[in-house]
Parts: sequence; structure tokens; C-alpha cells
Amino acid sequence: MADKVVLVVGGGGREHALCMELKQSKHVGELHCAPGNAGTSYLAKNHSISATDIEGLLELSKTLNADLVVVGPEAPLCAELADRLSELEIPCFGPIGILAHLEGSKLHAKQVMQDANVPTAAFHVLSKSSDIEAALDDFAGNPWVVKRDVLAGGKGVVVTSQRDEARSFIEQSIQTDGQVLLEDFLPGEEASMLVIMDGSGYVCLPASQDHKRAFDGDEGPNTGGMGAYCPAPVVTDAVRQKTIESIIEPMHQYLVASGTPYRGVLYVGLMIPESGEPNVVEFNVRFGDPECQITLPLIKTDVFEILEAAATDRLAELDIEFHDLFATSVVLAAEGYPQSPVKGRQIHGVSQEPIHADGTTAWVNHAGTGFNAEGQLISTGGRVLSCSASGPTLEASVKLAYALIETIELEGSHYRTDIAFRAL
Ligand code: AMP
Ligand code: GLY
Repeated sequence: MADKVVLVVGGGGREHALCMELKQSKHVGELHCAPGNAGTSYLAKNHSISATDIEGLLELSKTLNADLVVVGPEAPLCAELADRLSELEIPCFGPIGILAHLEGSKLHAKQVMQDANVPTAAFHVLSKSSDIEAALDDFAGNPWVVKRDVLAGGKGVVVTSQRDEARSFIEQSIQTDGQVLLEDFLPGEEASMLVIMDGSGYVCLPASQDHKRAFDGDEGPNTGGMGAYCPAPVVTDAVRQKTIESIIEPMHQYLVASGTPYRGVLYVGLMIPESGEPNVVEFNVRFGDPECQITLPLIKTDVFEILEAAATDRLAELDIEFHDLFATSVVLAAEGYPQSPVKGRQIHGVSQEPIHADGTTAWVNHAGTGFNAEGQLISTGGRVLSCSASGPTLEASVKLAYALIETIELEGSHYRTDIAFRAL
């Protein structure tokens, strides 16, 4: 029976993707989103409450009598939204604050990986200028990887072959943050593994690959992610098995033993070297964006059932099935993104309905979109929308996603033309 009331927290492409799946569920009767975007407004009732307004979100969850709250971004999780919902006995998909710290603090994540015996780069914690030279010597011969121990919105990591640059970023970070991480450089290819987990078990979704640099050929500044595809062939069956044995299983055991179960999705950022022995680059405590947009559509099982089960520790009862398809997403970014995106421009050519043809599907995920006073669709953020497609081959999904993005008009916008190049 479609009688469940669900609130999705967030307003990006990831949350639009979550709404698209939840809207199709046979259990969901009422779908709400806070704050949402233009795309979610077609599927859910948008509420103008920010994703960081914890009191506002709690009030809304109570008023709606929500059966499930699905949290998209990390900030409300770090601010203990799940803890507070638990006091109200409202199931939440997303971990409690102390566990969300896996993303909130890179040093904490490193310490957990050491405790759980999970492979990751060796590191130094630096808090004194006098320790810097010896630490730089220790990891010399490769680029240096310096990470601030704060949520820095993608600007907290510097990878550089210039010793001077590494040293000055370390000095600067010690001054502002008190301490900083220097990591050994890991060679290899990156992939994202999204693992839905609770106290009863876990399920690994097909691995994907994001493209974090703004321009083709991995050039230009770092962004939130310019496109992704799934499954990523770099994660072979053997790599997947090793990832489960050496990373996912020990992390799950560690989290189960830590007290309150981790109820949500753990984003495992992997580095896969030639040897195929995966290392963890980072953890996030939420779905990746844009990885979510192309991973959820590959799930055959009703996504509400999975998210609700994880929020209530019943994941082990489910038998989760996947489509035998590939999916690709290409992000359309505003002029000036990522430095200073131009907002408020009209967008043309966006269709609300997915386009189905010959075993393929193409669709638009809204991210930074809204309406102007005349009710016209406009851009409101840096990553404006993404065009995605699924099909029987990776090539088919790439071709279709690009065919769709070419039909959309937004003055000054840009997108990468080489999404999935590593696999093709
Ligand atoms: P993070 O915010 O920890 O994911 O780091 C941002 C990016 O820096 C990653 O996506 C990698 O491309 C790169 N990176 C981080 N740590 C390492 C490492 N130890 N070795 C090589 N590259 C790294
Ligand atoms: N796409 C990378 C992230 O969501 O962190």
C-alpha cells in the first residue's frame, strides 16, 4: 500500500535522484523535500527549509508525521540530525553525528582505519613547524598529499610535486586549524563504492567513477564532480572481492562494535593500483553526487524498501537485485563554475519525463535549478543539472547522455566531453 510519508533532506542532483526513485516506490504515498530544487518540485512537495536548519527539519518531520527521513548531504548528519530524529523515534537514513565524523574529520577517519586494520596511505599528523621537513623527506619521491582536518568543501586537499607548495600549505593549515595531515601518495585509478549498511548487514552497490576536475583530460580546478559512470570496469570482480574482504567487512564489523549501528550509506573512495590491492582515499557518510544519479537507477529492488530497512536495521532480510545495465551522467555547470558561477539564467529544453527507447533510458537530474517570478526554469547554483542515461553497454549510455545534454540551452554553461574516457 502506498501510505508511507518520506522526507528527503537536501536540494541537489543527488536528492532529485533520490526523489525519482522514491516516487516510483509502491510504498510511498507522500514525498517531501527540504529544500529541494525545481526538479524535485515536480515529484515532491518542496519545503523552504535549509538542509542545515536542524530545528526546522525536526519540526517538519514531526508535522508531516514522517515514516522515513532520507538525508542527502553530510552537514546535517555531522550536526546530529539522525541523533535528534532517533529521540523522536523517526527512522532516519543517515548515520548519527559521532559516526558522521568519518567524513567530518579526515584524521578521525585515518585513526578508525588504523583501528579497523583497513588499508590506507601512511600519514603524519603535523602540528609543529619543526616537524615539517622530516615528514616531507619521509614521503619524498612522489607528490605530497596534504589534507586539512576540516570540512572544506573540496578545498582541503593539496596534491603537489612542489616541496615549497606542500610546505606552505602545511604551515598555513597549522596556523588556521592547529594540525594537518601529510599522506603518502597512492598511485592508481580512483573509484567510488557506495555501501548501504545497518546493524544487521550491508550491501555494496555497483562501483562507479567520478570526474572531479572541471575540464577534459582531468585538467582545471577541483569540483564537486563533473560526471560519473557505473559500473566502473576498473573494479573487476577480483578488486571488488578484495575491497569487501579488506575494507568493507572490517569497517562494518568495527562500526557494529562501536555501539549505535551505522544506518545509511558509506561512500568508500578507493585508489586501485596496478596490483589490484585497493586502498581507501576517503570516506563520506552520504551518497556521492553525481555517483548517486547513476547508481540508484541500477537497483531493481524498490529503493524505499532498502532505505527504510537500513534505517531500521532490517537490511539483512532483503534480497537486493540489480539491473544488468550501465549508466552515465554528465554535469552541466554554470559559466564560471567552480570559482564564481553565474546564477539566475534561464534554462531551455529540459523535459521532465525520462525518455525510453530500445532498452535505454535518458533523463535529467536537476541540481542548482529554481523558478523565477514568471515561473520559468532558471539556474541557481554551480552544478545546474546533469543529463544521464542507462543502456546495455557503457558506450550506449555515454552516447545517449551526450545526445541529451546537447538539447539543453543555458548561456555560458560548460560540461566535460570525456566522461568515462578511462573505461572506453
Ligand atoms: P579527498 O578529499 O581525501 O578525497 O582527496 C581529494 C583527492 O585528492 C582524491 O580524490 C584524490 O584524487 C587525491 N588524493 C587524496 N589522497 C591521496 C593519496 N593518498 N594519494 C594520491 N591521491 C590522493
Ligand atoms: N562526487 C564526489 C562526492 O560526492 O564527494
